[in-house]
Amino acid sequence: MSQRVYIFDTTLRDGEQVPGCQLTTEEKVVVAKELERLGVDIIEAGFPISSPGDFRSVVEISKAVTTPRVCALSRAIQGDIDAAAEALKSAKLGRIHTGIGSSDIHIRNKFNSTRDKVLEQGVAAVKYARNLIDDVEFYAEDAGRADLEFLARLTEAVIAAGATVVNIPDTTGYCLPEQYGAKIKYLFNNVPNIDKAVISIHCHNDLGLATANSLAGITNGARQVEVTINGIGERAGNTSLEEVVMALKVHKDLGLETGIDTTRLFPVSNLVSQMMRMPVQANKAIVGRNAFAHSSGIHQDGFLKHAENYEIMNPHDVGVPESSIVLTARSGRHALKHRLELLGFRYDKPTLDGIYKRFLDMADVRKQVNDKDLMELVR
Ligand code: KIV
Ligand code: ZN
Repeated sequence: MSQRVYIFDTTLRDGEQVPGCQLTTEEKVVVAKELERLGVDIIEAGFPISSPGDFRSVVEISKAVTTPRVCALSRAIQGDIDAAAEALKSAKLGRIHTGIGSSDIHIRNKFNSTRDKVLEQGVAAVKYARNLIDDVEFYAEDAGRADLEFLARLTEAVIAAGATVVNIPDTTGYCLPEQYGAKIKYLFNNVPNIDKAVISIHCHNDLGLATANSLAGITNGARQVEVTINGIGERAGNTSLEEVVMALKVHKDLGLETGIDTTRLFPVSNLVSQMMRMPVQANKAIVGRNAFAHSSGIHQDGFLKHAENYEIMNPHDVGVPESSIVLTARSGRHALKHRLELLGFRYDKPTLDGIYKRFLDMADVRKQVNDKDLMELVR
C-alpha cells in the first residue's frame, strides 16, 4: 500500500510574491478552482494581514473551493493570526500557517532576539491560533540554516502547543539534498512527539536544488510538500509541483502517492503562466515546450522505434497532447520520412535520399524546418 504525500500549493502566496506576477482576487479564484480540479490537498491562499486585497482573496477563495483545505499565512503575532482566522471564516476546511525564524542568522539579525525568546513566541502563537481554529501549521523559517538541536527543541515545543503540521523550510535554498534529508531524519529520531504532527517541507530553488531537496525530505519521512505551479516564487522560485508529483509517480518503487490528477498538469501550468505573465522556460521539466520534443537524429530514430527509448513518461499522463519531432539539421532520414508520411508523402529510398540532401541544406539556413517548409521542399 502506498503512503500519501499531501500537496500544499503556495502558488497564490509564495508564488504570487514574484514581482510582476500579482493577480486580482477574481483571477486568484480562477486559479484556486483549477488547483482544486488538479487535486491539491491544501491551497495557501494569501497573507491576510499584508493588505486588504490579500485578505479579500483569502475570503473569496475560502468561499469558492470545497475539497482542498484553505490556508492563510501569518507571522507569530496575534494581530496577524486574528486576521488569518477572520479571513478563513467561510472556509469549509481552514488552516492558519504561523511561524518565526529559527536560524541564528534570523534570530539575531531579523528579530534581535534569542533562541529561547523565539521558541516562546512560536509556542504562544500556536496556542493562540489553536484557540481560533483546529488546524495550525507552524513554520520554522530558515530551518535550512538552523542549529539542529534547537530545531528539534522548537519542533517538539510547537507540537506540544498544538501544531498539527510543522514546516521545516529551506527558505534560502541553501541545503544540499543529503543535508536536508539528514535534517528531516534527525527530527524524526530526536523529537519524541513527532508522530503527533505531519512534517512538511518547503524548499526554495536558489541553487537549483528545490526538487531534489524536497524529495530528500519526503524519502526521510516528511508527508507534506509545499510547492508552486511552474516552480514560481521568491528569487529563483519554490519547488515545482509538477516535478515532485511526477518524480513520485515515475518512481513507484518509493511507495508514495499524491492525489493529483496529473493529466491536468500541463493545462494548469499554461493557465498560471499566462495569468501571471511568467513564461515557462522551454526546457522546464514536465511542462516546458521542449519537455517531449526530440531533435537529434539518434534520439528521433530511437524514439520512433519505441517511445520508451527516450521518454520516461507518457506525455498524455501530464496533459501534453503529443510528443514532437523537431526537424533540424541534426535530424536523420527516419524522422524526415516519418514527418513526410504524416503529411501524406511516401517515397522510395533513392527519392528520399535526394529530398534528405536538400532538407539538410534548407535546415542549415532555416534552423528549424516546419511543415510549410517541407511542402516547399517536396514540391
Ligand atoms: O520560505 C519560507 O520560509 C516561507 C515561510 C513563510 C513558510 O515562505
Ligand atoms: Zn517560501
